[in-house]
Amino acid sequence: MEQSSRPIGVFDSGIGGLTAVSELKRILPNEDIVYLGDTARVPYGTKSRETILRYASQDLEFLKRFDVKFTIAACGTVSSVMAGESLFGGLCTGVILPAVAKACSATKNKKIGVIATVASVRSGSYERLIKQRSPEVKVYSKACPMFVPLVENGYTYPGCEPTALIAREYLEPLRDEGIDTLILGCTHYPLLSEIISEVMGEGVTLISSGAEAADYAKKYLQENDLLKKEDAPGRLRFFCTDSPELFRENAARFIDIGGATVERCDL
Ligand code: DGL
Repeated sequence: MEQSSRPIGVFDSGIGGLTAVSELKRILPNEDIVYLGDTARVPYGTKSRETILRYASQDLEFLKRFDVKFTIAACGTVSSVMAGESLFGGLCTGVILPAVAKACSATKNKKIGVIATVASVRSGSYERLIKQRSPEVKVYSKACPMFVPLVENGYTYPGCEPTALIAREYLEPLRDEGIDTLILGCTHYPLLSEIISEVMGEGVTLISSGAEAADYAKKYLQENDLLKKEDAPGRLRFFCTDSPELFRENAARFIDIGGATVERCDL
């Protein structure tokens, strides 16, 4: 099969990577997409570096079976831990560099906040890459470990008091530092955008790492003449390692997956 006709692979520990899929669908509606959510083992963000690397290489191997032309590691945790790893070379992107590029061009007062999982913050990758790009920027990072379980369990609706309470606890210190740009360094977090914005105030620009990675993928495919030539709506296929019914139910909060198939798989 011609390389440009092959699908784009996207994976995450769970459903958070669907924020990248939703952007891909919007900007590249003709592309076929194969998504893997390792829902049986989510969250990755509380695990050790070794375990995250092992899971990530299994995820990548799974997507290779579909002969994907490009892969998005739509997981801030995997991207942080693998930043600089050779597996990340070639036709694959994580979410960090695209999010960092956007944040560095968005900030006016040179104060950027990063919220992400414990493993992502511990890796220091976001901070390191921001500093590499814009040494004058001050970075304020905060791990928000309770956000992923809240999202996976549906506590995302505007005005949800338990989530708002936790958001205030995590985010008020960042707001008090006066940041004007906040990287949602975990792909689950855009589902909490409204609640996060309420704490941070309207003047703070939120950067969705998943959406930025999707935009980067488009640019890469364009520049390398890898965009699908056929002019027909792309096919979406979803795989998860836990219940497909549960996946479908949770995914509905991110995107309309319509009649797409959701299958259980082993890695
Ligand atoms: N979407 C993942 C991330 O971006 C979720 C985190 C997790 O599995 O802990 O980091």
